[in-house]
Amino acid sequence: MPVSATSAVPSPVWFAAGYPLREHNTFGFDVRARFACRIENEAGLAAALRDPRAQGLRMLVLGGGSNVVLTRDFDGLVLLVALAGKRVTREDGDAWYVEAGAGENWHDFVAWTLEAGMPGLENLALIPGTVGAAPIQNIGAYGLEMAERCASVRAIEIESGTSYVFDAADCRFGYRDSFFKQEGHDRFLITSVTFRLPKAWRPNAGYADLARELAQRGLSEARCARDVFDAVVAVRRAKLPDPLALGNAGSFFKNPVIDAQQFDSLVLREPRIVSYTQADGRVKLAAGWLIDQCGWKGRTLRGAAVHERQALVLVNLGGATGSDILELAQAIRRDVFERFGVELEQEPVSL
Ligand code: EPU
Repeated sequence: MPVSATSAVPSPVWFAAGYPLREHNTFGFDVRARFACRIENEAGLAAALRDPRAQGLRMLVLGGGSNVVLTRDFDGLVLLVALAGKRVTREDGDAWYVEAGAGENWHDFVAWTLEAGMPGLENLALIPGTVGAAPIQNIGAYGLEMAERCASVRAIEIESGTSYVFDAADCRFGYRDSFFKQEGHDRFLITSVTFRLPKAWRPNAGYADLARELAQRGLSEARCARDVFDAVVAVRRAKLPDPLALGNAGSFFKNPVIDAQQFDSLVLREPRIVSYTQADGRVKLAAGWLIDQCGWKGRTLRGAAVHERQALVLVNLGGATGSDILELAQAIRRDVFERFGVELEQEPVSL
């Protein structure tokens, strides 16, 4: 596959200066990059970084652009990640190991693993974005995080051009977090991800919305990964806007985690608060519920709005700028803090 170091001709595709990024960010913001080039393999990346046009420029790595708020034109070089390919690299009695190029569409990759008879990623169906973006914020949904299926991540350090393989521990995954979002931020371009898909499959269908959807389909439990996949797709379609129809970046805030003491006093004032106790005794709150309770669902600020079916999702109704979205987010954070004393942390990166 074209992610290996030995492969193919160097082929970065350079675009004309002032390249429009509208189709490269799921909010659909109409901003431009000074330069952009499409990276199809590791050799292509090396060639792009050596190119005289790249010297001294800031770099921005974009996959599907599903976790970014672009507030202005980018005065630098955008690397559009298009490394393709998916294959089983190894198989033992317990698991399949599947490697996918960073530019592969995430949902199509999940569907491909299922069609090839390798379940394990079905709870993560329909998440927008690419394979290479998945480890950065450790995408998760309906009771599963990608960290639980990640064997390793291959990445190139942009400054040196050196190739690294990170095992799952090196990635330091946390809730919507990883090394690549912290110390490794802006330093690496992920070229491929290898997943470990266990052969002993068990449905992971305890998440309330998912269990309800399966029950509605007359299933007391999922018989196969396809049942879970179909139910996840249905739940997501019902609640979350399709970025192609309505620009958004999924959950705009992380669900905040507070200590038990703060929770105990909060729950006395707000007995209906939606909460999940964590293994360490701290308590995760549903940010969507907090925002909803403050009356924000469906409200608008110029072209920016809070989605009418899921208060955690901010949307571009058309014509909004990244700054409109950030202004709306700020007003929400202020209200939530005033009422609940809880700080909301933004999930997408703003630039
Ligand atoms: N809720 C409301 N009003 C709302 C939204 C939610 O009352 O407007 C309540 C729900 O009724 C439920 C609770 O809040 O009791 C949690 O809502 P939901 O199950 O929809 O999940 P979430 O916590 O809002 C998280 C992830 C989603 C993921 C879903 C399902 C985060 C930040 N978000 O949302 O991930 O799909 O769980 O697992 O952890 C994403 O990260 O982009 C994303 C969409």
